[in-house]
Amino acid sequence: MAILGVAFSVHAADLPREHLSLDKNWKFQTTTKSSINRSTGGTGNGPAAEKFNDAGWRSVDLPHDWDVESWVDGRDSTKFSNTHHGSAWYRRTFNLPSGDGGKRIWVQFDGVMHDAMVWVNGWLVQRHFGGYEQFRADVTEIVNFGGNNTVAVRVDSDDGEGWWYEGCGIYRHVWLDKTAALSVAPDGIFVYSKFKNNIPSDQVEVVVETTLLNSEAATARATVVKEVVSPDGRSLVKSEQAIDAVGGARSEVKGSLAFNHPVLWSPESPKLYKLITTVQAGGRVLDRKETEFGIRTMGFDKDQGFVLNGKHYELYGACNHQDHAGVGAALPDALQYFRVARLKEFGCNAYRTSHHPPTPELLDACDHLGMIVMDECRLLGCDEDNLHKLESQVRRDRSRACVGLWSLCNEEPLQGTEEGGRVAAKMQSFVKGLDPTRAITAAANTGNNYEGLMSSVQVRGWNYCTSDDYHKSHPDQPNVGTETASYVGDRGRYENEKDRGYVSAYTCDTGFKQIVTDWWTYYADRPWMSGGFVWTGFDYRGEPTPYSWPLNVNSHFGILDTCGFPKDEFYYYQSWWTKYTVLHLLPHWNWVGKEGQEIQVNALSNCEAVELFLNGLSLGRKPMARTSRLSWMVKYAPGTLSAKGYNGDRVVAETKVETTGAATAIRLIPNRSNIKADSTDVSVITVAAVDARGRLVPTAGNKVNFELSGAGKILGVGNGDPACHEPDIVIAAPPVVHRLPVKDWSWKIVKRQTDGAQPALAPSDLNDADWKPIALAKEMDKPVASGHTVLLKAKVSLTAEDLANPLVQVSFDGIPDRGGLFVNQSYVGETSKKWSGGAAYEVKKQLRVGENTIILSGAKLEPKAGLSKELTVQVELIKNSPEPKWFRSVFSGLAQIIVQSTVDAGEIKLTASADGLKPTTAILTTQPSTPRTKVP
Ligand code: GAL
Repeated sequence: MAILGVAFSVHAADLPREHLSLDKNWKFQTTTKSSINRSTGGTGNGPAAEKFNDAGWRSVDLPHDWDVESWVDGRDSTKFSNTHHGSAWYRRTFNLPSGDGGKRIWVQFDGVMHDAMVWVNGWLVQRHFGGYEQFRADVTEIVNFGGNNTVAVRVDSDDGEGWWYEGCGIYRHVWLDKTAALSVAPDGIFVYSKFKNNIPSDQVEVVVETTLLNSEAATARATVVKEVVSPDGRSLVKSEQAIDAVGGARSEVKGSLAFNHPVLWSPESPKLYKLITTVQAGGRVLDRKETEFGIRTMGFDKDQGFVLNGKHYELYGACNHQDHAGVGAALPDALQYFRVARLKEFGCNAYRTSHHPPTPELLDACDHLGMIVMDECRLLGCDEDNLHKLESQVRRDRSRACVGLWSLCNEEPLQGTEEGGRVAAKMQSFVKGLDPTRAITAAANTGNNYEGLMSSVQVRGWNYCTSDDYHKSHPDQPNVGTETASYVGDRGRYENEKDRGYVSAYTCDTGFKQIVTDWWTYYADRPWMSGGFVWTGFDYRGEPTPYSWPLNVNSHFGILDTCGFPKDEFYYYQSWWTKYTVLHLLPHWNWVGKEGQEIQVNALSNCEAVELFLNGLSLGRKPMARTSRLSWMVKYAPGTLSAKGYNGDRVVAETKVETTGAATAIRLIPNRSNIKADSTDVSVITVAAVDARGRLVPTAGNKVNFELSGAGKILGVGNGDPACHEPDIVIAAPPVVHRLPVKDWSWKIVKRQTDGAQPALAPSDLNDADWKPIALAKEMDKPVASGHTVLLKAKVSLTAEDLANPLVQVSFDGIPDRGGLFVNQSYVGETSKKWSGGAAYEVKKQLRVGENTIILSGAKLEPKAGLSKELTVQVELIKNSPEPKWFRSVFSGLAQIIVQSTVDAGEIKLTASADGLKPTTAILTTQPSTPRTKVP
């Protein structure tokens, strides 16, 4: 290992690598599956074509989920999956400067639900089946440097992959990456820490595997420089290695760096180091990449269970799907942080990405906020396609501090069979080959069974069933509770209301899987179980067990509801999973009409004893057993229900629940009132119905209307009510397109060589006398000979009002080949037959009030061609539809609205009003911030 001086001074701006967001300004249209011409390369037809008139489509930014925009309608499946969600197109253009010539250009999709076909400039560059994997295409050979380029994506969402809500569309980020021809390969860095005997000590070895991709034919001698930077920004150690980067291939180099006194990563102290990799060759710096990583050891032990940094560490885990209220599966990055932080509030330190690879930004949040991740593969399968997907997941995530465990699958029907065992064994050795540092499990619901994949996997994963006998018979296999509980309960509801679609929030036993106290008491007593992952941290759309659609639209399993509002069970977990002193009472105390009737009151607490009071009178003190809860039956009288928590004789906690008045006002409580003006950051705002004394009214259901002005927009709304059919997103209608026909066609042929070159109009072309009238669907009376150009002319009259529309364009189908469009003699753009989808040009500045002339030129029309029916030309006046009206009813007093910044620093003003309640306004400020670098 050689220690380097600074060989080159590197400025990121001078480097070929750019990682640019392609998220903004897409055009979007749902569609029936149109046929796609695959007979020739590079000639995508219809919306796949390079030029296609998409002006009438809606504009959307990514991440985008079209299912959440309409998903409560028309579903007859309890599972909300495997139903026909249809297809859609997404299109956008991007510009590449001519100076990029010589670089490699990639488009990368982080996840498209479910199946995607991607065209760039009419070339089909990628077909991907599966909604959860990242995929990319090198499009260098087909892009226009120094010009515009088109990406078109057809998404087919008919064949769902899961039994949960999955969303539809480009629901994760899209990137345009530029690199040198010799660079770090995609996911080409693997960095991990190593200690003797896997126990942290004073000296750490940081192992780095670097994969280079050389797209040139010739092999090149390169130097890979690695530098480790400490969590507080100090350069700690640097080394370099030479490598022959084989032409047209990937080459790998492995090395390690050592240093003393490492700071360890853990959920309680998520300190991240940075590896800076630089690639140099031929005297130039060709690439520079930063990779965050953590220094820690993780493992599963047969007796100690999960071991973090050399000590037993109990996994207080939660399984989660990936949707959130208001946005479906298309989460802005800040919402990932919001969700992980919410989970941590009740002591959760581990996240299972059930049942699929996560979005990278979730892992960013887990790395930075401190959350161990069980990173799950979508399917059991060792076929080439599945292994390829598994490989891309492992390569992408294996340097992450947070990832602690790979899971090969969930509850696969063939899990207990011999073949299931063989497949899992193959997957496991494949993963071990890519990542020797982590343990591997599979989530199995097979009870005591050891046959099949249970005997193949390193760590036995338990879904629900648990068994001391199994542990006795297989004492050498470590264990983990991959899925536990499946308890149901709704926020603020205390009865099972079959007809209204609610389940009680008392820890009710619906006979469904494990109740909370049972599973946790079992695990808490058995360190070898490693802890477990509750089903689920958050409620999610679909799977509304024990009910079904249309009574319900989302699940009842969460410790938090779909918005992240705590249900009562939150405090049970907080009591036993955190070091906070916790004392919580349920239910609420608004029981008009139940005066004198007995009501069950529960205390969720970790105090040694709890004393309950009604209107100041003690109802008795009860000792709290570990992992337990307390209960009283109390005759209802309005007023104050209160409790004191004791440790010994000392009061360590107090709480109360009061009977409130009716709702009189709304409150808006932003989780952050200062956000970044980067057009991605969000504020998650709680909407609360309160009484005259400002107390939350737990029974309120008022419908609240929202209005926003200033530097932001509303992304979505929710309220956590499983029975609510109000829309999470109200979308603006597509732009209104008014078409004006162009009339009075005439034509002529002029002698001009235009093959390959754009014909300019000559003054003689405008001489009206030479033009012969022609009617639609009529042919010209002679063919266009070589060396000649046909000109077709028409007229259109416009008013000042027409020209006041935001967008005015000429659109046409059936285009003359190798020609051009002229409006009032000004050249507007070229035409080409390969754009079989038609094309449209913005022409507002060439048009004027009164009569306008439109001329199309064409070098090549078929001999018999004329003004065929297919050649439709029109002027389109395009107006945006009015902004939609947003609203949401509060559920048990609460709702949520998610507001996103624009790039303008300033103020966002959000007003909430409801019939009979005092309205309120929240002011958020958006701070100047460098937006994520994006493609123009
Ligand atoms: C499990 C399954 C989960 C979810 C849960 C509901 O068996 O793995 O995806 O369906 O049941 O209880």
